[in-house]
Amino acid sequence: MLASALPGLELLATAVVLVDEHSRVLYANPAAENLFEMSVRQLKGHTAAEIFVGAERLQAALEFARSNACSYTEQDLELTPAGRLPLQLSCCVTPVDEGGERGLLLEFRPIDQRLRVDREERLLSQSLANRELIRNLAHEIKNPLGGIRGAAQLLERELPRPQLAEYTSVIIHEADRLQSLMDRMLTPHRLPQLHAFSVHEALERVRSVIRAETPEGLEIERDFDVSLPPIVADMEQIIQALLNIARNAVQAMRGKGTLTFRTRVVRQAIIARRRYRHVARVEIIDTGPGIPESMQDKLFYPLVSGRDGGTGLGLSIAQTYITQHGGSIEFESRPGRTCFIIHLPIVEGAPKH
Ligand SMILES: Nc1ncnc2c1ncn2[C@@H]1O[C@H](COP(=O)(O)OP(=O)(O)O)[C@@H](O)[C@H]1O
Ligand SMILES: [Mg+2]
Repeated sequence: MLASALPGLELLATAVVLVDEHSRVLYANPAAENLFEMSVRQLKGHTAAEIFVGAERLQAALEFARSNACSYTEQDLELTPAGRLPLQLSCCVTPVDEGGERGLLLEFRPIDQRLRVDREERLLSQSLANRELIRNLAHEIKNPLGGIRGAAQLLERELPRPQLAEYTSVIIHEADRLQSLMDRMLTPHRLPQLHAFSVHEALERVRSVIRAETPEGLEIERDFDVSLPPIVADMEQIIQALLNIARNAVQAMRGKGTLTFRTRVVRQAIIARRRYRHVARVEIIDTGPGIPESMQDKLFYPLVSGRDGGTGLGLSIAQTYITQHGGSIEFESRPGRTCFIIHLPIVEGAPKH
């Protein structure tokens, strides 16, 4: 049988299905079972038209590959397994021939996932480069600060008129402020403390802080997916990351508008090059003016701020915490709607506390 010639398919992360010369499923690897949420037994012996709604283009691709005896890739397929949500996929069809037994090998790839991997690779390397840059910069600034502070103290003792001490105290005070800023930039200060908890619990904490800071004029809406399993993470760090994002949103709206917290479970997703069966997706959406075009490329860089008195550290810290947990953070923005999207892995079988 054709399938027995291809044992390596079991381990592939790509969804692979093998069909016979009548386009009936002979075999599907575990990644395909996950993707379609159907077992090999349910798939076996069936054609694409029996399995999916909207299989015409896939069937045409199979016919094409078979009659031309060549590989063929169909880029934009929408297949809907019975009773499920549509899947956006690409499919590469390759004819196989084993001792006269002919069939077709189908490799399926989710489309948004493919695009996301590219984008995330970029974000990840950008984030690592940022970390390196901050560390170097913070060290360079910290070193002379001690000297400046010490010299100001010495000077203070030698001053001929006590009123002049006002100036030295400004130097000392500002040196201390810079020092603590640099310390904050040299994160992490501590190792993450991992526990299982609900993202909703973290969002509720964020909501109550925001409520206390902005008691009037702000609508806070919640759209929670109750089926979301707990995540295993450092709760304080996750709260801090979400709070930094939510605070920016409220500041951008000048305290007036709607802030929405939305959660969803995403199945079969890849974040930071790792594949997970389930991922928590958290969206923080505001109705503010949007992120200026000119800032969008460097938004997560430290010291990038669009407001008076801003440190430009909020998003950089949020990104550090989220990526430390194997997650990712992105945004989409236009005037009237800005959405920060956080993905966090859900580890199967995690202990509850
Ligand atoms: N939801 C948002 N809408 C509009 N602008 C935003 C939003 N979130 C962040 N920004 C912009 O990104 C900048 C950087 O944010 P952040 O890193 O938290 O630093 P800070 O808040 O100290 O300026 C903000 O100053 C603001 O200009
Ligand atoms: Mg901020």
